[in-house]
Amino acid sequence: MVRRVVDKRKIIIDCDPGIDDALAIFMALASDELEVLGITTVAGNVNVAQVSVNALSLVSLCGKRIPVCRGAAKPLIHTRREETRVHGVNGVGGVRLPEPDFGEDTRLAIDFIREMIELNKNNLDIIAIGPLTNIAGILLAFPELARSIRSIFLMGGAVGPGNVTPAAEFNIFADPHAAAVVFNSGVPIMMYPLDVTNRASIGEIQMAELWNMGGEIPKFCHRMLAKYADFYRGKGIAEIALHDPFAMACVIDEGLATYKEYHIDVEISGGLTRGKTITDVDGITGNRANVKVAVDLDKKGFVSLLFRLLASF
Ligand code: RIB
Ligand code: CA
Repeated sequence: MVRRVVDKRKIIIDCDPGIDDALAIFMALASDELEVLGITTVAGNVNVAQVSVNALSLVSLCGKRIPVCRGAAKPLIHTRREETRVHGVNGVGGVRLPEPDFGEDTRLAIDFIREMIELNKNNLDIIAIGPLTNIAGILLAFPELARSIRSIFLMGGAVGPGNVTPAAEFNIFADPHAAAVVFNSGVPIMMYPLDVTNRASIGEIQMAELWNMGGEIPKFCHRMLAKYADFYRGKGIAEIALHDPFAMACVIDEGLATYKEYHIDVEISGGLTRGKTITDVDGITGNRANVKVAVDLDKKGFVSLLFRLLASF
């Protein structure tokens, strides 16, 4: 059979692993459709040093070597906030990952992203699945690069209720100023908010299927997700929301979601509403839509893609 040679989508993953980030990284490294040019790390779920070690270990686990470049240790203005309740103190549910077999790249995240944009003008997508501090840094330092980024796929925000406050989702809440820079940059944005990622979930049956899949990677995923499951069970939620994996699944197959185009801006001054993604669903502001927002999902299709990729290791 002659395999159709298709151009791989060149991506950089900007992340804060993070249990769900870890599965998203595994999916990207397993996918034939993606060429992961590198990973940039940002303080988020845990501190940036731990996030960076986790990223190195996750890539090593897949038997790969790609640049892992350290990024921002804190948000642009606010103090850093962690999510150890959800991801554990080490960021991956307390699971001991093997020591990485290579070290961090000498380039900082912002230098690496800039270099990759310049080498791949209009042929590079940034997959942002943590706070947006690095991405805002690039856009503030080199605003001319905005027109050379093909698109930003981001897991973050909420049209409806948040998950850190009633208003805001963690990635946007953690650095609302950075998010405001990104949403106002003019770069094409594909946004995967909590309204759909909360529904991109798996339960006991899929967890058992994951464990029985065999292989080291699915077993690590099961162990990390067990901690995640405890957190959700403690909130009386039976299924585990796979926020970042759903965003990554849509990078591979955008058809796993349906979209609407809205104008979105980010609340940066509010006390109660800090980090709220203010979504103009009725066009009241008259502002031009700046974001393609996922509003519904093919949950079955998502889970089968996730499991196909994890089983391929
Ligand atoms: O709100 C979910 C997001 O916050 C995910 O990216 C998760 O990893 C955390 O960073
Ligand atoms: Ca994340």
